[in-house]
Amino acid sequence: MWNYLTLLLLSALLQASPEREATHHCPQVCICNSVKKSVLCQNQNLTKVPASAPQLTQKLDLRGNAFEVLPARAFQPLLYLTHLDLQACQLRQVHKGAFQGLLLLSYLNLASNNLSVLPRGALDGPILLRQLVLENNRLKEIQPGTFGQLPFLSLLNLAHNSLESLPDGAFQGLPRAWWLRLSHNGLRELAPESLVGLARLRRLSLDHNELEALPWEALAPLRGLVHLDLGHNPLNSLAEQEGLALPELRYLTLDGASLQGVRPAALSRCPRLYTVDLRDNQLETLPPLQGLDRLHKLNLSGNPLRCDCAARPLRDWAIRNWVTLDGLCREPSLLRGQRLAWLREEDLRCQGLGGLGGTRGPPGAPKDTAQPCPLACTCSSLSRHSSCENKGLMLIPSRFPNDTRLLDLNWNKFTSVPRFAFRRLGRLVSLHLQHCQVARVAPGALSGLGQLVYLYLSDNRLSELSAAALQGVPRLRYLYLDGNRFTRVPRAVLWALPSLVGLHLERNALHHLALSDFAGAPSLRWLHVNGNNISRVTPGPAPRLEGLYLGGNRLGAVPTGALGGLPALRELELSGNPLAALQEGAFLPVARTLQHLHLSGTQLRQISPEALAGLEPGLRSLYLEENQLQTLPAMEAFSQLEVVDLGENPLHCDCQLLPLHRRLAGQNLPGEATCESPPSAQGQKVKEAAAVFEACLEKEPLDPPASRQDVTETPGQRSQRAAAGAGGQPGLS
Ligand SMILES: *[C@@H]1O[C@H](CO)[C@@H](O)[C@H](O)[C@H]1NC(C)=O
Ligand SMILES: *[C@@H]1O[C@H](CO)[C@@H](O)[C@H](O)[C@H]1NC(C)=O
Ligand SMILES: *[C@@H]1O[C@H](CO)[C@@H](O)[C@H](O)[C@H]1NC(C)=O
Ligand SMILES: *[C@@H]1O[C@H](CO)[C@@H](O)[C@H](O)[C@H]1NC(C)=O
Ligand SMILES: *[C@@H]1O[C@H](CO)[C@@H](O)[C@H](O)[C@H]1NC(C)=O
Repeated sequence: MWNYLTLLLLSALLQASPEREATHHCPQVCICNSVKKSVLCQNQNLTKVPASAPQLTQKLDLRGNAFEVLPARAFQPLLYLTHLDLQACQLRQVHKGAFQGLLLLSYLNLASNNLSVLPRGALDGPILLRQLVLENNRLKEIQPGTFGQLPFLSLLNLAHNSLESLPDGAFQGLPRAWWLRLSHNGLRELAPESLVGLARLRRLSLDHNELEALPWEALAPLRGLVHLDLGHNPLNSLAEQEGLALPELRYLTLDGASLQGVRPAALSRCPRLYTVDLRDNQLETLPPLQGLDRLHKLNLSGNPLRCDCAARPLRDWAIRNWVTLDGLCREPSLLRGQRLAWLREEDLRCQGLGGLGGTRGPPGAPKDTAQPCPLACTCSSLSRHSSCENKGLMLIPSRFPNDTRLLDLNWNKFTSVPRFAFRRLGRLVSLHLQHCQVARVAPGALSGLGQLVYLYLSDNRLSELSAAALQGVPRLRYLYLDGNRFTRVPRAVLWALPSLVGLHLERNALHHLALSDFAGAPSLRWLHVNGNNISRVTPGPAPRLEGLYLGGNRLGAVPTGALGGLPALRELELSGNPLAALQEGAFLPVARTLQHLHLSGTQLRQISPEALAGLEPGLRSLYLEENQLQTLPAMEAFSQLEVVDLGENPLHCDCQLLPLHRRLAGQNLPGEATCESPPSAQGQKVKEAAAVFEACLEKEPLDPPASRQDVTETPGQRSQRAAAGAGGQPGLS
């Protein structure tokens, strides 16, 4: 690399032809310092780059001018330039090759301009560039290859732009970048390979974007990442199956992210985590976080922590592991404002499990007096949560603090939600109206809730919902209508909810699911219709649907035909349907994307190898519990499979199951599988029933049994084993 660079530099310097000769004079409006080799021409309303700067200039400061357009080779004679500042120059366009010739440039600042695109080639030329600042422009997209010629760039700042997605290969060609700033954009999506090539990245800032799920796939290649900022994204929960796996990560920031839940193992694949910042979320509780032996600080300030018996495991874990835990209790009221970490175990009680002790109210809990709060209710100015849960109310109270973020009205008896019921709550994010006997939501009921993201109407008596009822909540992302009386999808509503990504309609009375009903919800990613009475699914385009949950319905077959319009489907839940059999190619329409398939309790007696055709390269989990399966096809081609669950099947452990045994034992996959027959193996786990399967191996003279799970086997042994495996199981591919 260096030889090549030296050559380039030399040839450029030699070629520095004097055709557009730079002079030794200082341009009229500038200040030149010949010792520092700097030229300052700030705020001069220049419309052209001054042509006559001293040729030996190293620092050129052109902030606050009005160039609008940078033509190709705009700085050509200034071969020795190392610093170039072009902030706030009203730049709309940078032409291809604008910085051509600046071989020594190491710092380029293009912040606060008006750039909405960077044509490929715009940044070609300054191959020694180390810092590039593009902050505060209007960039809407990054084309792959834009940064392809910057082998030494270490800092790339793209904060405060208008990026909504990142394509695959967006940062290809930045092998030395160590900090990439993408804060304050509108990122909703990172393509799975968008961050590939950033081999040395240590810090990634993705805070203040619109990410609704952890971009774990895109982050996976960043093996050296130490610092990850993901705060202020509308993340809902952290689940382990899509967890982060970043072996070097020490600092993780997830503040202000609307988190409502974190699973115990969600961060277990980031074993070096030192600080986790979960401030200002909506967590009432947190399980002890598994696998984080080096964790030092966990900040839960600004969460509505419930300090009852359920908080004991967290507190104990923090004490045992020397984790500094920061966070104040919201509930119960006796402990409000107390630090969770300072409470004793006996302070953390649940009603009915020893009571609250009654007399011992810790002093100093702050009173929330600044804002109004309806009688019967509690309003916390600390967490900005208000609650009137289970107060037998017949009317929705008004006069909650106008900065309320979460309003909990569960378990009351409103029967209907009238017009303008929440008029002053423009900051509300989460509205809880579960179990309120609501049969009607009036038109305009939610008007004014411009920030609402979560609406819970679960377990009411709704059988219809008009579009007008949900007018005025343009940011609503998650709508819970489970446990109601819908016989059809409330299709009109979807047209009023352009941002909807998750719709819950479990436990209603749907009998037909027409995917065409979702045409008005182009962003929909998760559709939950478990526990209805659906016997028919008809197709329709749902281009972004990632999860379709159809468990516990009455489907007699996999609805293959309806899967055609789902190009992004990753998870399909069909458990608890009377499928009885899987037709050939049942999942072919979604084979390219499907990763998780749930077929538990579907009365399956056998699975032919053709039934799962196409799923080989991508399937990661397969759930088959509670069926009538005696065996399973060899699944050697399923290279990504991580979970195979075969619990409660009458498995027959003979040589047909050898591939499964190898797989479960060799890769130590999770998942249950127990032999029911032959009698000699009954009750043994397939993974462990070595005796049964060793007998199969004896029939394969080429395979030395000792090397079966031996990772140090030689390539020769491995190919022998493969040959023996393939030859030894007639009829199984
Ligand atoms: C630049 O233009 C602005 C507005 O037209 C004017 O106020 C300012 O004096 C100009 N500055 C110079 C140095 O000419
Ligand atoms: C940027 O462009 C927009 C429209 O194209 C214009 O209204 C705005 O004044 C420009 N801003 C600057 C700082 O030049
Ligand atoms: C947690 O966050 C709060 C609020 O920002 C801050 O005052 C506190 O120092 C933090 N605690 C730790 C342990 O970093
Ligand atoms: C909320 O109410 C307070 C008075 O209680 C008022 O000062 C403030 O401006 C109000 N804020 C909004 C956003 O309406
Ligand atoms: C489900 O549908 C079947 C036939 O379509 C009907 O007989 C049954 O009553 C329905 N069950 C419920 C709970 O609606």
